Amino acid sequence: MKRIEIKDALQMQATDEAINVRGWVRTKRGSKNVAFIALNDGSTLHNLQLVVNLDEIPESALALVHTGASVSATGKLVPSAGSGQAVELAVAQIELLGAANPDEYPLQPKKHSLEFLREKAHLRFRTNTFSAIARLRHAMTFAIHKFFNDRGFYNIHSPIITGSDAEGAGEMFQVTTLPLKTIPLTPEKDIDFSKDFFGKAANLTVSGQLEAELAALALSKVYTFGPTFRAENSNTSRHLAEFWMIEPEVAFNDIHDNMDLAEDMLRYLIKYALDNCPDDLAFLARRLEEEESGRKAEERSMELIAKLKFVLENPFERITYTEAIEILKNSQPNRKGKFNYPVNEWGADLQSEHERYLVEKHFKRPVILTDYPKKIKAFYMKQNEDGQTVRAMDVLFPGIGEIIGGSQREENYDKLLQRMNEMHVPIETMWWYLETRKFGTVPHAGFGLGFERLMLFITGMGNIRDVIPFPRTPLNLEF
Ligand code: 4AD
Ligand code: MG
Repeated sequence: MKRIEIKDALQMQATDEAINVRGWVRTKRGSKNVAFIALNDGSTLHNLQLVVNLDEIPESALALVHTGASVSATGKLVPSAGSGQAVELAVAQIELLGAANPDEYPLQPKKHSLEFLREKAHLRFRTNTFSAIARLRHAMTFAIHKFFNDRGFYNIHSPIITGSDAEGAGEMFQVTTLPLKTIPLTPEKDIDFSKDFFGKAANLTVSGQLEAELAALALSKVYTFGPTFRAENSNTSRHLAEFWMIEPEVAFNDIHDNMDLAEDMLRYLIKYALDNCPDDLAFLARRLEEEESGRKAEERSMELIAKLKFVLENPFERITYTEAIEILKNSQPNRKGKFNYPVNEWGADLQSEHERYLVEKHFKRPVILTDYPKKIKAFYMKQNEDGQTVRAMDVLFPGIGEIIGGSQREENYDKLLQRMNEMHVPIETMWWYLETRKFGTVPHAGFGLGFERLMLFITGMGNIRDVIPFPRTPLNLEF
């Protein structure tokens, strides 16, 4: 018999025709005459209740049906006596597909801590929290492609192995097939990369931007959506060594167009989640509320759905870095010495505590900061006439800090070359990037959205390790 997904079964009317469902047992309980099994197949957050009449089916058939086991059940959908569901399955036949020894299966029908579940990443998809996150991650991936496709953007596959450092920050994982015990050396005792696989040093990419720029300077509107890798040793709840980034790049756009695009995209994605994933969001909202129930009112976050709607309905605040520094300098936490990094002077990089102050305390809405000092930003950003700042833009979100980083790009060959020299960006590995400014250069702009930072915001989860199935962080590569 053809299997029906539980999502669809729960929408069906009670019927005289038998149907078949398959899935994993979440719980089994019962009395002398009847057993109730909550079955989940991942198609929805909700379980289908299987009702097994023990007068008709021998109890021995259920002997190995425990939490975690997989079963196939056939029967008729009947109106449910219990609350919470319209129908349940009156089981005529039940077959064990795979047993799960209850003494060994780590997921018990109770609440497990997120830390515990990180150690069980191979099984955590089977919990409500992680299946809801997985479905939302899928929905957001789809919505991102739809957003760009509907607007005439082309998806570009930028390379994962590269010979250049797109951000110039030197935080790259090296890729090599050289024998590490006997590394070939040049006469000058440097590593002889000419003997390596590519005949030169290679890394995992930190960003697809440079390649996206090449494509935008022919196709006008493009975006990448791929994995990116950063070997920064930051063990925070916002950083991964491997994360996914969405990088649109648009020819003829300036920084204002760029901000509009970022704002449109974020709103579109939030609305898509609200419209298409109400059950999973409602579940995650309850989860967050429970998690924070012990905290004082002022330490609790905004209710998840209300927070998403709030961002949907309120325009982002747009201010310059210089204005932000003035606000921060005069802010109460700064004057009272509450910041870990006091704000004294123009030119310092903003820390997450400063970003969150601006968003959560001062403006109480997302903020786009522009025109940062050039010395704290990447070489490719368009230089302003003041000689001090660049046309950078960071989008800051409540609870997250920076969710997007981007800029208008320097399209002038001489200015770009000069900046690359000043910042010691190796021209010899980047000649192709410079050439685009020699042949038909145009103003253009783009940005990068950190996909997991978006997922943190949408799901209300507090740690980035919980919004990607298999997080890569320092000293963590089990699964
Ligand atoms: O600000 P970043 O470094 O910008 C770029 O990579 C540009 N090339 C983007 C562009 O203009 N096309 O990174 C962009 C975003 C950040 O705002 C953040 O959301 C995310 O990527 N991000 C990280 N997410 C998780 N873990 C990390 N280690 C991250 N580093 C950056
Ligand atoms: Mg950034």
